[in-house]
Parts: sequence; C-alpha cells; structure tokens
Amino acid sequence: MRQDHIEGKIVEGRLGEFHRDVHALTYDSDRLERAYDKHAENYDEFLMELAGDGTSGCSHYTTLFFSKYVPRQKGMRILDAGVGTGIGGVELINLGYNPLSIVGVDLSSKMLEQAKKRGIYQELHYARFPETKEIFQPDEFDAVLCAGGFSHAAMPESAMVEFVRVTRPGGFIVFSVRKSVYDKSDSAITAMIKLLQREGSWDIVAQECGKYLPADGVQAVYFACQVL
Ligand SMILES: C[S@@+](CC[C@H](N)C(=O)[O-])C[C@H]1O[C@@H](n2cnc3c(N)ncnc32)[C@H](O)[C@@H]1O
Repeated sequence: MRQDHIEGKIVEGRLGEFHRDVHALTYDSDRLERAYDKHAENYDEFLMELAGDGTSGCSHYTTLFFSKYVPRQKGMRILDAGVGTGIGGVELINLGYNPLSIVGVDLSSKMLEQAKKRGIYQELHYARFPETKEIFQPDEFDAVLCAGGFSHAAMPESAMVEFVRVTRPGGFIVFSVRKSVYDKSDSAITAMIKLLQREGSWDIVAQECGKYLPADGVQAVYFACQVL
C-alpha cells in the first residue's frame, strides 16, 4: 500500500486518487471541501465501484440501517448531514419514506450542485457542521441521517452535539463510522458517541458492524441513537 493511502484495497487509478484526496490524518475543512469539489461529478460512479455489489455502498447500507429503526411518518422532516450528491435521499424514498421533507447540508458546493439536480431536497445548505446554529432551530427534525460522514479526519465529532440539538426528543440520529476510525484507541468520534450516552443526551438503540464499501474491503459500525 502507498504510504499516503490511508485505507482501502483500491490504491491505483482514479479511485486511488479519490481516496488520497478525501482522506487525511488531520482535519482541515478547506482541504476536504477542495477534495469533494474536485470529485463531485464522478462521486456516484466512484461509490458504485468501491461498493462493487450493485449498491451505493455506504449510502445504501446506512439508509437500510436507518429504515430498521426510524418509523415512517407522513411528512417527517429529516436532516441529511453531509448530503453529498444526494444518494441518501433517493435511497430513503425507495425505502418508503415518502412523502417526506429532507434538508441537506454539505461543505462542498459542487456536491450540493449534484444533489440539487435530483429535485428531491426541500432545502440544501452550504455549511459546515457543527457551524449550523444560525440555520437550524432546536428540535426541528424528526431524524438525522449521516451516511459516510464520520471517516478519516472528516466530519468532526462536535457535529454529533449539533445533531442532538436539532433533533426533537424521541427523534433518531443514524450514522455510520468507518470501523477503522471507530476502533482507533484515541478515536474522538468513539469517545463522543459514548459521552453522549453517558450524559443522557441520547440512547444508543442499536449498534452493528457491517458492510460499507465491500469491493474496497471497508466495513463500518452503524449507530441508531434516540434523542432523550
Ligand atoms: C463520504 S461523503 C457521503 C455523502 C453522502 N452522504 C452519501 O452517502 O453518498 C461525505 C460528505 O460529507 C461532507 N462533509 C464532510 N464534513 C462535513 C462537515 N463538517 N459539514 C458538512 N458536510 C461535511 C463532504 O463534503 C461529503 O460530501
């Protein structure tokens, strides 16, 4: 494996370049924005290749997990955090969350341009978690979905605190964490998941390790948390 290739079996070609652009050891939201802007047009294709099983990989498996725990309600309001090109919205509709009101947030304007083309999002915001306090009111969502956000030096753990703030009591927060990120002994993401449970902000209703990007050999730990 190349020294600067942080995770995944696929090291060469366009996918290898995508990996090295989006993954880093330290968080820099400007760098992340440039990386996703650069690959936005090919992102859906890349995800299908990294999954290699005919699904959209992380989007598919996170929304499938979401559907096991979050009740379908007419007109429910869902926040798609790190919406990317909006594959999550398509998956939710296919899973029977319809009609629904989905709001997407992303730090890459080019990813948001792709999501806008789908015509299924009620609102799309160019913003960086956790800096969304001026956009969202407390308790305004029934559920938050964050598929693929918690990766190597990607969405910061403080985003979870913001998810709790914007979700109504009894609502759900469902997200994936790459298994290698979750398993790191000094993982800030893992520490935050446990802290929010300990301090009574949420109850972890389900936690499951499973497929994420099968062709790339990457697994994730999925969480469904209910806001208290
Ligand atoms: C791996 S992609 C997943 C996209 C989409 N959820 C999916 O399932 O295909 C992660 C996305 O999160 C966005 N992102 C990362 N950190 C973020 C932050 N702090 N605030 C908002 N978006 C962020 C990235 O720009 C990227 O579009």
